[in-house]
Amino acid sequence: MRGQEIFNVKQNYKLADAVYRMELEGNASSVTAAGQFVNVKTSGFYLRRPFSVCDFSENSLTIVYKTAGKGTEAFSRVKPGEKLDVLVGLGNGYSLDKSGERPLLIGGGVGIPPLYGLAKRLAAQGREVNVVLGFNTASEIFLEKDFRALGVGVTVTTVDGSYGKKGLVTDVLGSFSYTHHYTCGPRAMLKAVYEKTTGGGSYSLEERMACGFGACLACTCKTTYGHARVCKEGPVFEKEDLVW
Ligand SMILES: Cc1cc2nc3c(=O)[nH]c(=O)nc-3n(C[C@H](O)[C@H](O)[C@H](O)COP(=O)(O)OP(=O)(O)OC[C@H]3O[C@@H](n4cnc5c(N)ncnc54)[C@H](O)[C@@H]3O)c2cc1C
Ligand code: FES
Repeated sequence: MRGQEIFNVKQNYKLADAVYRMELEGNASSVTAAGQFVNVKTSGFYLRRPFSVCDFSENSLTIVYKTAGKGTEAFSRVKPGEKLDVLVGLGNGYSLDKSGERPLLIGGGVGIPPLYGLAKRLAAQGREVNVVLGFNTASEIFLEKDFRALGVGVTVTTVDGSYGKKGLVTDVLGSFSYTHHYTCGPRAMLKAVYEKTTGGGSYSLEERMACGFGACLACTCKTTYGHARVCKEGPVFEKEDLVW
C-alpha cells in the first residue's frame, strides 16, 4: 500500500566511484517486499526520482544510488538531519515464494541494490543463495562485503578484470545450478541473462518514470499479456511474460 512520508536522513555517504548509500528513518511500514521502490522528492526538482529499496525495516529504509544527473548529484549533497518527502511502497517487488531451494541472484551496477534486501530475506528462510555482481572495474564495486556478511555465495565480475572474474555476469552463469533466478540491471544485461538462463526468473525493469504510481503511463512496457506499467504492474516481471 503506497504512502507519502517524511523521512529523516540518518546517513548519506560515498560507497564507491559515484555511488552513495542513503539511510533514512521514518515510517516504512508500507514497504513489504524486496524489489519495491520509493520515489524521492528533492527541492528544486519537479519530478521525484525513483530508487529501489536496498533494505528496509518498519522504521528505516536504505537506498544505494549512482550520480547520473542533476537530481542524484543533489541527493549526494543531502546532509544527515535533513528531511525528505518520499513515496513509499511502490511497485510489486520480488516474490520469495518462487525461489526454490537454490536461488541465483544476478545484478549489474545500480541494479544490485534491490538484490541485497532479497538475498537477506531468502537467506533468512534458509535458502542456498548465490549472488553474481557485475561491475565495469574494481573502483566501482559496492555492497560486496554486505552480501558476504549475509553468508551467501558471492561471485564478482569486472569487465576489465581488475577484480574478481574478468568479463560479464553472463560469462559465469554456466557454473551454477539454480532453481530460480532473480535479476536487476541495465536492459542489455537483462536481455543477455534472459537468453543464457534456464528455468523461471524474475526481472526488475528500471524504466524511466514520472509519477511512479500508475497515473501517467510514462513507463509502459510490452508483455505477453499486453502493455504494462513498470511502476505499477512491475517493476518485477516474470521471465515468461517479458517481450524484448
Ligand atoms: C524502479 C526504479 C528503480 C531504480 N533504482 C535505482 C537504484 O537503486 N539506484 C540507482 O542509482 N538508480 C536507480 N534508478 C535510476 C534512477 O532513478 C535514475 O538514475 C535517476 O532518476 C536519475 O536522476 P538524475 O536527475 O540524477 O538524472 P537525469 O538528469 O534524470 O538523467 C541523467 C541520466 O540518467 C539516465 N537515467 C535516468 N533515469 C534512468 C533510468 N530509470 N534507467 C536508466 N537510466 C536512467 C538518463 O537517461 C540520463 O542519461 C532506478 C530507476 C527506476 C525506475
Ligand atoms: S511512471 Fe507514471 S504510470 Fe508509471
